[in-house]
Amino acid sequence: MARIDPAGPLRGSLRPPSDKSISHRAALIAAMGEGETVVEGYLDAADTRTTLAAVRALGARVEVGPGPAGTDEAWGGPNDPVDGPLRIGGVGLRGAGSATIDVGNAGTLLRLLPGWLAGQDGGQWTLDGDDSIRRRPVDRIAAPLREMGAELRAREDRLPPLTIAGAPLHGIAYEMPIASAQVKSCILFAGLLADGETRVVEGHPSRDHSERMLAAAGAEVSREGNAVVIQPAERLKPGVIAVPADISSAAFFLVAALLVAGSEVVLEEVGVNPTRTGLLSILERMGAEIELEPLGERGGEPTARLRVRPAPLRAVEVGGAEIPLAIDELPLVALAACFAEGTTTIRDAAELRAKESDRIETVVAALNALGGAVEPTADGMVITGSGGLRGGMISSQGDHRIAMLGAVAGIASGDGVEVAGMDAAAVSYPGFESDLASLLVARG
Ligand code: S3P
Repeated sequence: MARIDPAGPLRGSLRPPSDKSISHRAALIAAMGEGETVVEGYLDAADTRTTLAAVRALGARVEVGPGPAGTDEAWGGPNDPVDGPLRIGGVGLRGAGSATIDVGNAGTLLRLLPGWLAGQDGGQWTLDGDDSIRRRPVDRIAAPLREMGAELRAREDRLPPLTIAGAPLHGIAYEMPIASAQVKSCILFAGLLADGETRVVEGHPSRDHSERMLAAAGAEVSREGNAVVIQPAERLKPGVIAVPADISSAAFFLVAALLVAGSEVVLEEVGVNPTRTGLLSILERMGAEIELEPLGERGGEPTARLRVRPAPLRAVEVGGAEIPLAIDELPLVALAACFAEGTTTIRDAAELRAKESDRIETVVAALNALGGAVEPTADGMVITGSGGLRGGMISSQGDHRIAMLGAVAGIASGDGVEVAGMDAAAVSYPGFESDLASLLVARG
């Protein structure tokens, strides 16, 4: 249980932790690679340590240290920090050893890894994880992978544990029923080992980190209109992968600074890939002015310094193509909407129900417990601005983004918020509470 009292203003600057999506991909693509890949700025959090442990179980060598001067140390597993550049010795595209993999709480690992494994003939793998993972659907990847020739089994044909028997694959053209970067990436990974070209059509663009990283590692991947096309590959050579700061973590401070009078926060080296910046455009429509100073590319991803100050907010309509661009930030849109004038509607976001928690239910329960006026709908929620939040008690339900949402709500609330299960934040942001404290100036 953590108690977060009303506080502020928030002032100062920090670099949020590295991007979780990009870090998962860096570990996986490095493991697929030939020879050694150096990953600079890998996210050190529970989810991404799980991915390192997974690639090690598949046979990749994982070391943390500055370089080949003999100072590298074998990484010791999920209790060991990643406190320097990572050096990953890949097993090659077809070299993953059979294993049972604990994916912990990591949905991205659960959905991406099978794409790589499915085409490795003769291998056997089982993926399982925590209680939250056991509720997360895998039929969305099993269907296209089976079309490619993969052999997979899942509980009730739709939930983990997921068992994969490596088999020869052939390329397909697949139209995704939902816009999902996880599903897209899974199919692209499988396409590397397939016979012939693989094509994934997405209704709305989703994050494209896999495409960028695969292309940088030498894969033939291209965009044709609303399709991503990948050719089979003999080998990948990632070389060096650098990871920018995570806009999904920066988002908590962006919204906190927007809501608390007198704040001014600067966030450094934040990844601003246009497939991730939906929150910025939504907040701008609500009346926020977020200054974005470009800082060039890091690891093939555009980065920027973001500066935010408070602003009066008005309600907005959010839906359609904007949803995949802001999917993990929609809980924060709902929080901001409690402070806005008018009624905000979030629609086309049924995917929120399949995240680390059912984020329509958990966001509605949390914000209403704090004095908000939020109604759930089948594919989103309707939030009537209530002039702010009173405060109270919430549970994170084990979901890292709900825990951090509760803390931001606490800072901006009238009476403070108690968050049961604040420790869930460590899934993506272990230092969240101390970083938040570092931006807070004592109330005078
Ligand atoms: C992710 C994609 C999104 C997002 C998740 C990370 C990724 O999921 O919600 O936190 O790294 O590809 P979907 O692609 O399933 O929407």
